[in-house]
Amino acid sequence: MTCIDPNKLASLHQRETQRFIRDHPKSAALYSRAQDSLLGGVPMNWMKKWAGPFPVFFQSAKGAHFTDVDGREYIDLCLGDTGAMTGHSPDAVIEAVARQSSNGITLMLPMEDALWVGENLKQRFGLPLWQFTLTATDANRFAIRIAREITQRRKILVFNFCYHGTVDESFATIDRDGAVGPRRGNIGPPVHPAETTRVVEFNNLDALEAALKQNDVACILAEPAMTNVGIILPDDGYWPAAQEIARRYGTLFIADETHTICAGPGGCTRAWHLTPDLLVFGKTIGSGIPGAAYGCTQEVADRISARIHLEDCDVGGIGGTLAGNALSLAAMRATLERILTPSSFEYMIRLATRFTEGVTAEISTAKLPWSVTQLGARAEYTFISSAPRNGGASYAASDFELERFLHLYALNRGVLLTPFHNMALMCPATTESDVDAHTKIFAACIAELTSSQ
Ligand SMILES: Cc1ncc(COP(=O)(O)O)c(C=O)c1O
Repeated sequence: MTCIDPNKLASLHQRETQRFIRDHPKSAALYSRAQDSLLGGVPMNWMKKWAGPFPVFFQSAKGAHFTDVDGREYIDLCLGDTGAMTGHSPDAVIEAVARQSSNGITLMLPMEDALWVGENLKQRFGLPLWQFTLTATDANRFAIRIAREITQRRKILVFNFCYHGTVDESFATIDRDGAVGPRRGNIGPPVHPAETTRVVEFNNLDALEAALKQNDVACILAEPAMTNVGIILPDDGYWPAAQEIARRYGTLFIADETHTICAGPGGCTRAWHLTPDLLVFGKTIGSGIPGAAYGCTQEVADRISARIHLEDCDVGGIGGTLAGNALSLAAMRATLERILTPSSFEYMIRLATRFTEGVTAEISTAKLPWSVTQLGARAEYTFISSAPRNGGASYAASDFELERFLHLYALNRGVLLTPFHNMALMCPATTESDVDAHTKIFAACIAELTSSQ
């Protein structure tokens, strides 16, 4: 389907694997040592998913670049899968974190930074009231709990092949007949996901309406544009109509802007005039210092206040001892005030356009039926000729072996792409020459893949 000869792919992959092993003796030694103390030899399970027989161990990172333990330098287009979208260790955040570290890290008391951040988020996204968590996963989980509580409905709705962090209800997909089941790889689901979740394809308004019209769905949890199975943009008019359907059936809309913040300072919500009931923003909000936020409308806030009592507020399933800690908030304030500014976005988006144009031109020169989709500061190539309109189609077009090869080829030449699909993200420290270096490597790679020898 991807027009690449599998035998050629396998032999090139073998060659690149040998090169990788030769170039990374110190990473290999650390990985071997890690087998004795870390489950699977990595601190976190999906660090095994990197291309190559073992992960590269990094030594230091700054801006858009990092160096590994073997002294090799890289352009980072993964940026911690958006955690470092502000660039690695930006000076403004280092200063704020250093200052706060010596003045108290966590007290479970509020501080002025929390107000500043709440006020900034209100202005960015238009939702008036905010709470903090340590991860976007937690923010999504709490937003879902609130939606369930105030609507007194049990089910949620997600789009096929979405990803919202490790939220149990969201690990569900549909089969060809539309039946909901556990997503492939779902580890230990607590209940069958059909009990908690309805799943429909993105960009299908009829399916959405059919799933909501029994009036038993508390909320839609959605990225305004899907980013975790390739980039899938909404059709023109999709969100206004989808939001109207949700309102008609009393279903709340939670916009997960954790990745789609790449669309601009107020994410897709501002750029596309969306009016979610709740909104989640994590990962890059503190430049990678753990922290996330969820906001809600006044109406949602009033409905919450009517149901939650002071005596029970610490045991209701929304919490986290370290949530809203002083260090996270200092990092968030510095990030929002000094880095995630309109001018940074303009710059990053311009670079992503350069990436998109460069890669598109190479695909066309090689006559491959592939395409590139851009969302603000993020761009991604897929192995089909026109951009997919939903998760099912995008997933069907993926090719794990080919992806791994492309990633390994780039890694061996000093460019890191995300280990999941083919995403490239720009940060304020990325340069035009970083983007062009990737394009050149990509061109060489597809030339080798498609050559007749
Ligand atoms: C859209 C979206 N929401 C939420 C999350 C969860 O973020 P975290 O893993 O930091 O909890 C992710 C993670 O990739 C994500 O892509």
